[in-house]
Amino acid sequence: MQSPVFRARGISKVYRVGDVLVTALSRVDLDLHAGELLVLLGPSGSGKSTLLNILGGLDLPSEGNVRFLDHDLSSADDPALTRFRREHVGFVFQFYNLIPSLTARENVALVTEIASRPMPPEEALDRVGLGDRLDHFPSQMSGGEQQRVAIARAVAKRPDVLLCDEPTGALDCETGKRVLEVLARANQDLGTTTAIITHNAAIAAMADRVVRMRSGAIVEEVRNSVRVPASSLEW
Ligand SMILES: Nc1ncnc2c1ncn2[C@@H]1O[C@H](COP(=O)(O)OP(=O)(O)OP(=O)(O)O)[C@@H](O)[C@H]1O
Ligand SMILES: [Mg+2]
Repeated sequence: MQSPVFRARGISKVYRVGDVLVTALSRVDLDLHAGELLVLLGPSGSGKSTLLNILGGLDLPSEGNVRFLDHDLSSADDPALTRFRREHVGFVFQFYNLIPSLTARENVALVTEIASRPMPPEEALDRVGLGDRLDHFPSQMSGGEQQRVAIARAVAKRPDVLLCDEPTGALDCETGKRVLEVLARANQDLGTTTAIITHNAAIAAMADRVVRMRSGAIVEEVRNSVRVPASSLEW
């Protein structure tokens, strides 16, 4: 396997709320390799989102080192992190975060207008099976369709890495599988390194590698010998 795209070493994150210190991550080491699909599992509060946010340059570790290729993210200032996110990272969150007053096409265009080598919004929406919904507003689409618009928006800038925090958390099983198929296809066709956080252990079967977290630490890492297609996942 090639050298890692992300290399996190000794990552700790401590939040202070008033007088209370909360340790969200404790000395975590993690590599993400080019093109791989990683699933991150763990109970609520185990530090999954904190870890993903640090990899994505949304947050900084309290201790430790995070590198993306030859960028040191752990010592980057705000403008450098903003640039890193804009140029390299696509995010997909549980609650879509679409702009209600913009159509599907306009929601995607908002991102492609500031990207350096984007695909046309129409192509991105076609890729997620919404080529016939370009002019629909979020309120005119189902939850699964809105999430696919959010994925189109994330992949349209051709990010190096796609970071997904519970992308199926608000969806029923069949709709969730459709969304996961779209993510797996972006990973395979575009070679986008992908990390997916989920509570649903069944989703682990579609990954190249599965990382389990508990209490701010990685407690297990498993490499799957085969990837199960998202449509065949059972839950
Ligand atoms: N901004 C913050 N301020 C204070 N504590 C925080 C903050 N963000 C997270 N935490 C705490 O850090 C710990 C890890 O949170 P995190 O959101 O990473 O967990 P998670 O594994 O994503 O959980 P969930 O599955 O519920 O989303 C939790 O104890 C949480 O309360
Ligand atoms: Mg979370």
